Amino acid sequence: MYASPGRINLIGEHTDYNGGYVLPAAIDKVTALVIKPNGLNNIRAFAIDLNDLAEIDVAVKPSKQWPRYIYGVVTEILKFGLSVEGFDCVFGGNVPLGAGLSSSAALESAFAFALNDLFKLGLTKYDLAKIGQAAEHNAVGVRCGIMDQFASIFGQKGHLIQLDCRSLDYELIPFNPEGFRVVLLDTRVKHSLALSEYNVRRAECEAGVATVKRQYPTIELLRDVTMDMLSEFKHTLPESTYRRCSYVIEENQRLLNACDALKRSDYETFGAMMYGSHEGLSFKYNVSCEELDYLVAAAQSSGVLGARMMGGGFGGCTINLISNDRYEVFLAHARESYKSEFGKEPTVYEVAIGQGARRIDV
Ligand code: GLA
Repeated sequence: MYASPGRINLIGEHTDYNGGYVLPAAIDKVTALVIKPNGLNNIRAFAIDLNDLAEIDVAVKPSKQWPRYIYGVVTEILKFGLSVEGFDCVFGGNVPLGAGLSSSAALESAFAFALNDLFKLGLTKYDLAKIGQAAEHNAVGVRCGIMDQFASIFGQKGHLIQLDCRSLDYELIPFNPEGFRVVLLDTRVKHSLALSEYNVRRAECEAGVATVKRQYPTIELLRDVTMDMLSEFKHTLPESTYRRCSYVIEENQRLLNACDALKRSDYETFGAMMYGSHEGLSFKYNVSCEELDYLVAAAQSSGVLGARMMGGGFGGCTINLISNDRYEVFLAHARESYKSEFGKEPTVYEVAIGQGARRIDV
């Protein structure tokens, strides 16, 4: 039996595929699976939460969505020149779906980790994270960065991961803010734009880089571009491309400042950076939505230290850093006012920072 978690991200959004920085952590909600070799040449998988069975032939991309994650992980492992025997498996979990907590990365990472361990493939943790990401690109069609799979594989209980998404160097930062807690408020919406706009944003960033590169040939990623360089192209680039790129450059710097503040236990400054991140995501990167903006504004007016949308955007959760003494009042206010505005209460998730992918001995 194996398990791999979903993730939160404190700051550094839409920076991973630009080679920038992120600050995620694994959470105490997982996808778990039970698996055994079946001596056959196929895969039989049962999704408990969907009460659905699939037989997967690795030569054919499944037509249904959920088996594609398993198919994707296996086909990416095969690209390493390794072989994967047939297996039977049953899986399920408690990472909320569509809430921006990376249930898909939890699923990919659980399978990558399990297959590596069960069939003694000798892949590193870095390989496993990249396999999950490649499965998302090639089998699911989202050109995601490495953050979610990395957090799911590398997560350490009680620690944030300050990750450089270009070098994949990382630092574990202990996170136990005394007197404060992290709470997620789920808007319970996922606008249909989420998937398509994600790839569009990534393409916009790449287009910005291509333009800057003509003048500065050593530039590979938006991570390498400074604000000064970008401003030289203010009138050459489409206005929206300029805005997207400037958000990413600012967000990388904001993350570095936020991590400095965190190391000084300066939560006030850290919280202000979270609000800054949200503003950039909403006005410059345009990946927020009415519901997310509403919950962040509600947090700000209730004295929450920091709040912002989390993950890809267009719905899902806000992440809030709040002092214990304001917690109850804020939640009551957020629940009531969100309900009167949108007709339903946000779901509240209290998450603890848990361990990354692992085998569970039963
Ligand atoms: C999704 C992607 C990640 C990352 C975030 C935005 O969660 O899977 O790679 O890009 O969106 O920060």
